[in-house]
Amino acid sequence: MIGISDLSLATGHHVLDLAQLAQANGTDPAKYRVGLGQDEMSVLAPDEDVVTLAASAALPLVQRHGTDRIRTLLVATESGVDQSKSVGVWVHRLLGLPSSVRTVELKQACYAGTAGLQAALGIVARDPRQQVLVVAADVARYDVDTAAEPTQGAGAVAMLVEADPALLAIDPVSGVHTADVDDFWRPNDHASAVVDGRLSVSAYLDALTGAWDDYRAQGGHGIEEFARFCYHQPFTRMATKAHRKLAQHTGAALDEALLEPTTRYNRRLGNSYTASLWAALASLLDDPTDLTGERIGLFSYGSGAVGELVTGVVRDGYRDHLRAEDNLRVLDERKPVDLATYRALHAAAGARGSEDHDVPVATSAPFRFAGVRNLARRYEGVAGA
Ligand code: CAA
Repeated sequence: MIGISDLSLATGHHVLDLAQLAQANGTDPAKYRVGLGQDEMSVLAPDEDVVTLAASAALPLVQRHGTDRIRTLLVATESGVDQSKSVGVWVHRLLGLPSSVRTVELKQACYAGTAGLQAALGIVARDPRQQVLVVAADVARYDVDTAAEPTQGAGAVAMLVEADPALLAIDPVSGVHTADVDDFWRPNDHASAVVDGRLSVSAYLDALTGAWDDYRAQGGHGIEEFARFCYHQPFTRMATKAHRKLAQHTGAALDEALLEPTTRYNRRLGNSYTASLWAALASLLDDPTDLTGERIGLFSYGSGAVGELVTGVVRDGYRDHLRAEDNLRVLDERKPVDLATYRALHAAAGARGSEDHDVPVATSAPFRFAGVRNLARRYEGVAGA
C-alpha cells in the first residue's frame, strides 16, 4: 500500500479581497463570491516566486520526517522561472536535501502534480524504503481587466509519498484522458496565460467524463463506493459544475453539499493551478468530519489537456498527521493589499527579467528571491522566518 503521508500548504505574502476588484470594475461582488465561488486571492510579494512557494511548502515535511529516506524531489509547476534549470534544484538547496536526491520539474498545466504523484508511486513500488517529496506549486496569472482576473491566485502543496502512508492510500487503478485542445496556455514570451474561458470549462468537463470512463474500463470502483470527490478548482464553483456533470454521466445522485469542505482553502487561495487539487484534498482532510476508511475520488485537470481520476482510501489514524492549524495560519496571516497595490505588484512581477538587480526583503516566508546576478537567480533563507 503506497500513498500520501503528509500534506503542507504555502501561499503568497499578500491577499486581495475580491470585493475590492468587483467594486473597481463595477461587478456585483456576488458574481465572484457565488458565481465563481471565490472570496480572495493570494498575491505574491516582490521577493516571492514559485521557488520560494515550493520550498516553503516542503520545509515542514523535511522538519517532521527528516531527509534520510528521500531520494527523489519532483516539483510540478507551470510557473517555471528558467527554461533549463528545474525549480526543484533551488528547492533542493534551500531545504538542505542530500546530494543523493534526484530532482526534476514536471509540466502539463494544472495536471503535473498528479503526474508527480504517479511517478512517486512507481518509485516507491520499486523500492518501498524510499520516500518521494512531491511539490505542486504555481502562480496563476492573467491580464488585468479580463474575465479571468478574479481567478488568479498562488499556492503550493508539498506531499510526502511512501509505503504504508499515514493519510491516503492511493488505489492502483486510475482513469486518464488526453486531448489536444487550445483552451489555456502560456506562450514562452508571455507573462500571463492565454485562455478561452468557455472552451476551458467544456474541455475540463470532457476530460472528467473521459477519465471516468477510462477509470471504469480499467476496473475502477463504482460511483456508489465513493464517499467524497475533490476536483481541480480553478475557481471553486467549477467543482460544482464537475460534480453535476459526473452525476449526470453516471446517473448517480451526488450530494453537492459534500463538496463544501473541499473548497475552503481554494476560496481563499484563488487558483493555484497544479496545487489546487491537493489544496482541496488538504481542506477536506483538515475538516473535523471523520473520513477514516472512506474512498475519495480526486480529479486532476490540466488544460491543453490532460485529466486523471485518481482514487484513494483514508487511513486509520490519519487525523494525528494533519496540519489543519498550520494550513489555516498560512491563509490567515497573509497581509491584505488594496487594489492599487495589487495592480502595482501585478505590473512589476518579473518586469526586470534576467537583468542584474537586487530585490528588497518583503516576505515573511522562510525563503526569498533575492534578485539576479550574471543572469542567475539567487535565493536565500529569511532570517527569523
Ligand atoms: N450573482 C451570482 N452569480 C452571478 C452573478 C451575480 N450577480 N453574475 C454572474 N453570476 C454567475 C453566472 O451565472 C455564472 O454562473 P454559471 O457558470 O453557473 O452559469 C458565473 O457567475 C460566472 O459568470 P460568467 O460565466 O459570466 O463569467 P465570465 O465569463 O466573466 O468568466 C470564466 C468566467 C470564463 C471562468 C473566467 O473567469 C475565466 O476565463 N477564468 C479562467 C479560465 C478558467 O478558470 N477555466 C476553468 C477550466 S480550465 C482549468 O481548470 C485549468 C485552469 O486552472 C486554468
